[in-house]
Amino acid sequence: MLREAIAALTTPATRHARRLGYVHEGIAIEARFRRCYTDWDPHIGRCQRTILSIAADCPQKGRVAVLGSGPLCDIPLPDLAGIFHEVLLIDIFHPPRARALARRFANVRLVDHDLLGFEGGGPGPGHNPAVILAAWRKKVGAVDLTISANLLAQLPLVPGKAWDDEGLRHRGLDPKTWADRIMQAHVDDLRNGPGRSCLISEWRRRWYDRDRHLIEATDPLSGLTLPPPRESWSWMVAPPGELPGGASLSVEVGRFDLSDPLSTG
Ligand SMILES: C[S@@+](CC[C@H](N)C(=O)[O-])C[C@H]1O[C@@H](n2cnc3c(N)ncnc32)[C@H](O)[C@@H]1O
Repeated sequence: MLREAIAALTTPATRHARRLGYVHEGIAIEARFRRCYTDWDPHIGRCQRTILSIAADCPQKGRVAVLGSGPLCDIPLPDLAGIFHEVLLIDIFHPPRARALARRFANVRLVDHDLLGFEGGGPGPGHNPAVILAAWRKKVGAVDLTISANLLAQLPLVPGKAWDDEGLRHRGLDPKTWADRIMQAHVDDLRNGPGRSCLISEWRRRWYDRDRHLIEATDPLSGLTLPPPRESWSWMVAPPGELPGGASLSVEVGRFDLSDPLSTG
């Protein structure tokens, strides 16, 4: 806990990321990665192999952007840095692990960017997710491959009290509709390019009690227009001991192919 508190205080971050709680979340993900390495390892291996095969197939190898790069648990950074001329790691907060890894490669750049554009004051009646979720492209320019790794379903989970369900309703927004709209805008941005894209996202969540009985299953992407996952695997994201009361959380993670017309149902 002390180590996390010090990291949260000393790691560079924008005031915006700190205020909304992304710094706290990012440090917590990195710490869970260290604690749960054995449970996470199969998922990490699947993600990295999937990303590598897509990167190797990419016809142009100029620039790759990783959206939601976070602590880089899922990202085979040394391989990407070897394959592409430039690697852009795009996140609202870059935790210490990402900073340390990125420093090892001259062609890797950290980009601070809030994909939801909340620096501009947050969502309101004029909020246009299609424009906002594509704004990162204006900031960094054209890329040959965009990787969205375990970001999509996290996008609407804005930490911090200002944007909880009540805060959204106060601004005239229905929380479920708002969440679906921003996630769909992210999917559409990946689909529309330019360049190829790779979407890896959780698509089902299963909560278990201390006796490993299923309590609840939810589909965070149920409101989106998406093809079925091309491949899918389980990730014990919060094994027993991580959540209060002995509960645990497992998610299904899929690779969604957005560019192959045969797979878009
Ligand atoms: C589950 S983590 C992804 C893990 C990461 N792919 C890895 O390899 O470790 C989700 C990431 O999305 C980022 N994120 C969430 N909302 C964001 C937003 N609005 N703009 C930019 N990044 C965001 C978080 O900061 C976090 O690093």
